[in-house]
Amino acid sequence: MNMIFLGPPGAGKGTMAQLLMVDEKIPQISTGDMLRQAMKAGTEMGLSAKRYIEAGELVPDEVVIGIVKDRLQADDCKNGYILDGFPRTVPQAEALGQFAKIDVALNIDLADEVIIKRLSGRRVCLKCGATYHTSTLNGSETCAACGEPLVQRKDDAPETVKNRLAVYAAQTAPLIAYYEKKGVLKTVKCEPHATVQENYAQVRKVLELA
Ligand code: AP5
Repeated sequence: MNMIFLGPPGAGKGTMAQLLMVDEKIPQISTGDMLRQAMKAGTEMGLSAKRYIEAGELVPDEVVIGIVKDRLQADDCKNGYILDGFPRTVPQAEALGQFAKIDVALNIDLADEVIIKRLSGRRVCLKCGATYHTSTLNGSETCAACGEPLVQRKDDAPETVKNRLAVYAAQTAPLIAYYEKKGVLKTVKCEPHATVQENYAQVRKVLELA
């Protein structure tokens, strides 16, 4: 199944995609992770993306479209994939439609006040992309998967999160109607106090996975 995970920053797209990737044996393709890896490696693309990401703005369409188009050619995408954080604008969705067939666009919906709480406690591993929350780390500061130190993303600062939510509302939320018109939209409404495993069970149910 070729899937898109839509939803505001912090809705849990990455967390759900990482669980599904393992269980369904299909890759999670996160444009945010790819851009952060490029920033860490200091590539030209990473350096040009940095100022957009740290301001909570979107990286230009042509940059991310090129990255995703290349990535989808890889062998591991043959049996399906999860696009996490792409597309994020109508032009990106239109471009994607030229080189991929999407079976499901899953809209993960969560209230803004929960998002702000979640993002302020998020810690990430820049090496393997694993995501954690301080509330479940029991004080640990290293990645359980690869042992690297965990960091707080610069764009998780409260003022930047506010801008990311505004950018989401203006530029990405229209994709909900876009994919609804295409007949592939499914929505998971996350309850504020649901655990990761409860949300994941909801996601599997909506995707009609056993
Ligand atoms: P990206 O990395 O894609 O960020 P995002 O979409 O803003 O989404 P997040 O990664 O912040 O959140 P998420 O929904 O994955 O939530 P998570 O699972 O981590 O993009 C970053 C930037 O890159 C963009 O702002 C832009 O500049 C650029 N970019 C990327 N793609 C682009 C594109 N296509 N076009 C242009 N620019 C692009 O969960 C959040 C926290 O909550 C975690 O701590 C997690 O542990 C916790 N959590 C999750 N579920 C639960 C639960 N049920 N209960 C408690 N805690 C939970």
